[in-house]
Amino acid sequence: MIAIGSDHGGFALKQEILAHLRSRGLEFKDFGTYTEASCDYPIFAKAVARAVAEGECERGILICGTGIGVSITANKQPGIRCALCGDCFSAKATREHNDANILALGARVVGPGLALLIVDTFLDTPFSNDERHIRRISLIED
Ligand code: RB5
Repeated sequence: MIAIGSDHGGFALKQEILAHLRSRGLEFKDFGTYTEASCDYPIFAKAVARAVAEGECERGILICGTGIGVSITANKQPGIRCALCGDCFSAKATREHNDANILALGARVVGPGLALLIVDTFLDTPFSNDERHIRRISLIED
């Protein structure tokens, strides 16, 4: 199950990502926002981060205008490793090296075509399970 959320700045891109997840047959839970009305990104970032941290969802996707506000918020939740990605190399590397569990996207930064490729890369890349990466991840929350 994928947790997904955005503010108004990410709403339109979220709709495209939802359609893409549906076309792939992937299950998701949409934590809002549900309209283009101006709203506060921490509300949605916290809801998605909690769903992932508590194990209700395995991965999360967060979108705001820059991706920065939602990633700052999500990373305050223990157990969350939220990666703001604007390219596929970063999306692949953060799964392999950081075992990132939430992807953050900036809807005013990346176009929808690139965003969907980033989403696919993030969802389809497994963690490397390399000892050095496991050690480094455990050091993050020490
Ligand atoms: C909203 O205008 C904008 O500040 C928000 O989407 C996000 O970019 C914050 O980091």
